[in-house]
Amino acid sequence: MEKGLSEILSSHQGTKSDLIPILQDIQSNLGYLPEEMMKDVSLFTRVPESEIYGVATFYSQFRFTPRGKNHIMVCTGTACHVKGADNIIDGIKRHLDMPDEGVTPDGEYSMESVGCLGCCALAPCATVNDNIKSNITLKDIKKIFRRRK
Ligand code: FES
Repeated sequence: MEKGLSEILSSHQGTKSDLIPILQDIQSNLGYLPEEMMKDVSLFTRVPESEIYGVATFYSQFRFTPRGKNHIMVCTGTACHVKGADNIIDGIKRHLDMPDEGVTPDGEYSMESVGCLGCCALAPCATVNDNIKSNITLKDIKKIFRRRK
């Protein structure tokens, strides 16, 4: 069950060292870090909001936008990069009409690029809701991501 911010904060001491665990808790409960909550996190931890944003943007695990119903992670590690990961990303964006923010307007899909997914021999790779897709070609994109029009 989803926890509210006050419940999340109440399980921490409110020290500066709680900042990352608090951000992790918020993200694991809500799927992202709502910007409107950062002020309360700042008051609770006494860490300035600007510093919170600095920390949250430093770690790629944190995101300030909600994920789509289906989340795509495209590997841009070395093997996948060499095998055309950038073309796969462009192809997915084109096929899904996905803006640069990485979430389709209907909230159906979101996408991010990630480091090695651990299946380099099957590059280029991606996951869709944690299901691995390997040896992806531009032709596969239409089959993998069917759109209801
Ligand atoms: S580099 Fe893509 S799976 Fe390893």
